[in-house]
Amino acid sequence: MNKNSTFLFHDPDNFQRLRSVFETAGYTNAGVLERLGVRDFPSIRENDLQLLLRRTSRDTPLDTLIRLFLIETPCDIEAVKRALQPMKIETLAETGIIRIDGSLVTATIKLLPYDNLLVAFDQSRMLQTDLRQNYVMGIGSSTLTLANVIIRRHSRLTLDLGTGCGVHAFMAAQHSDYVIATDINPRAVQIASFNASLNGLTNIVCLEGDLFDPVKERKFDLVITNPPFVISPETRYIYRDGGMEADQVCRKIVREVPQYLNEGGYCQILCNWIEPHGQEWHKRLQSWVEGAGCDVWVMRSETRDAETYASTWIRHTEKDDNEDQFAQRFEKWMTYYEQQGINSVGAGLITIRRRSGSHLNWYRADDAPEKMLGPCGDYIVLGFELRDFLETAQDNTVLLNTRFHVSPDVRLERQSAPSAEGWADETIRLRLKRGLAYEGNIDSSMANVIVRCDGNRPLKDLLKEMAGSLGADISNITSAFCDLVRKLVERGFLLPP
Ligand SMILES: C[S@@+](CC[C@H](N)C(=O)[O-])C[C@H]1O[C@@H](n2cnc3c(N)ncnc32)[C@H](O)[C@@H]1O
Repeated sequence: MNKNSTFLFHDPDNFQRLRSVFETAGYTNAGVLERLGVRDFPSIRENDLQLLLRRTSRDTPLDTLIRLFLIETPCDIEAVKRALQPMKIETLAETGIIRIDGSLVTATIKLLPYDNLLVAFDQSRMLQTDLRQNYVMGIGSSTLTLANVIIRRHSRLTLDLGTGCGVHAFMAAQHSDYVIATDINPRAVQIASFNASLNGLTNIVCLEGDLFDPVKERKFDLVITNPPFVISPETRYIYRDGGMEADQVCRKIVREVPQYLNEGGYCQILCNWIEPHGQEWHKRLQSWVEGAGCDVWVMRSETRDAETYASTWIRHTEKDDNEDQFAQRFEKWMTYYEQQGINSVGAGLITIRRRSGSHLNWYRADDAPEKMLGPCGDYIVLGFELRDFLETAQDNTVLLNTRFHVSPDVRLERQSAPSAEGWADETIRLRLKRGLAYEGNIDSSMANVIVRCDGNRPLKDLLKEMAGSLGADISNITSAFCDLVRKLVERGFLLPP
C-alpha cells in the first residue's frame, strides 16, 4: 500500500506495454492457477506461503510476477528487471505500484487475472494500517454474486455506482456503448482508472463523488451497484460502512435511482435491510419503492439474526482482533442494534425496472432459489416478462385460454419406493437446470399437466383432463389449479406463447 501512488505513467502507451509484459509471462487466469497448482483463486488463501513460494521458485518472469503481485512477497531487483523486460523497472515505479528498497522490490497493490482482465486492488494488509478507511476491495464474494446476476444486454449508457477496483464496470463495458464508474473514495477512482487503462478499455470514465452526484442529469439503461451495505455503528471502511444509519444507504439508492433510469432501464442493487419484528419482511422494502414508476423484484438470499450478522462481519473484516477486542466490538454493534430495534437483517438482490405511465406497477418479493446457475441476467429479464404476462392474466379465464409450453430447462425427477402394491412414486421433484434454478415437489396429477404443456392446447383442456382423472368437479379445483399454474409461470417452469 502506498498513499503516494499516482497509478499513472508519464507516457500512457506504457499501459499497453505493461499489459504485454503480463501476457508474455503467461500471467493469465489459467497460467497462474496452473503454476500454483490450485483450482481457483479463493483456494490460494487456504494454502500456505511456503508451498506457494516453492511452486514459484523457478525464477521465470511468471514466478516473479506471481510472487510480487499475488503472494505479496518482496522480490530480488534483478529478477523483477528480467520479468518486466522490455519495460524498465523505473518506468513501473513511476506509478507507485512497486517500491524499490535497495536490492528488493515490493508491490504496493495486488494484481489478479480475472476472466480476460487484469485487475488491481489493495492488499489486505492495508486493513491493518491507518490507511484502512480508503482500502479498495478486490473481487469478493459480493462482487461475484452481483456479476452472476447482471443483465448483460446491450446498454447505451451504464452506471457502476461504488465501482471500487472497477470490475463490474469493465464487464459491463463489453455490452455497453459507454460506462460511467463512480466512487466516493478517490483511491478507488484512481485504481479503477488505472485498471481501465491497463485493460485497454476506452468506453469507460471513472468519476469521484457521493452516490449520484457525479451523474446528475444523466439517464441510464443499466445501473449496477454493490454498495457499502453493512449495517453497523462503524465508519471504519468506506467500502463496507455506508456512513448512514442502519440500512439508509440502500434505501437512498433505491429511492433515487428511478430518476436516473431510461424507460425500460434496469437497476440491480445488492442490499442488506432491516427486517422489523412482527412485520412481513418485504412490507418495509415495498414502502421504499411506492410511487416510483417502476416494477420491482426483491430476491431475498438470506436472513440473519443480529448476533450472527454482527459476529460474521466483525470476524470477516477485523481479522487481527484478539478475543477482548472482538468482545468489545461485538458489544458496540449489539448495543447499536438494540438502540435501533434491529433483530434481524435480510440480504438479497433488488432489481428495478422503470415503467412509468398510467398502469399499475407491480412489486414481487420472494426468496431466491438456492442455486443461481449463472449467468442469470437473461433469466431475471425473463422473470420480469413472465410477471408482466401474469398481470394481464389475473382473470382465470385468460390464464385458462393460454397455450403454455414447458421450459426446455425443466427436469422432472421421480423417486419411487417399493410398497405392498408394487413400486409407487414417493416424490416427484420439479427443477430448472439453468439460471434461477428453482425446485420443489409436486403431486402426480400436476406433473401430468406439466408434461402435457406442449404449446398446442389451452390450459383449460388440461384442467378438464385432470379433473376427469381425479373424478373431481372442475369448478371445485379451478381456483387452486390456477394459483399453482401462476406460481409455475412466475418461476419460469411454464412459459406463455
Ligand atoms: C462493497 S464495495 C463494492 C466494490 C465493487 N463495486 C465490487 O462490487 O466489488 C462498495 C463501494 O462503494 C463505494 N462507496 C461507499 N460509499 C459511497 C458513496 N456514498 N458514493 C459512492 N460510492 C461509495 C466504496 O468506496 C466501495 O468502492
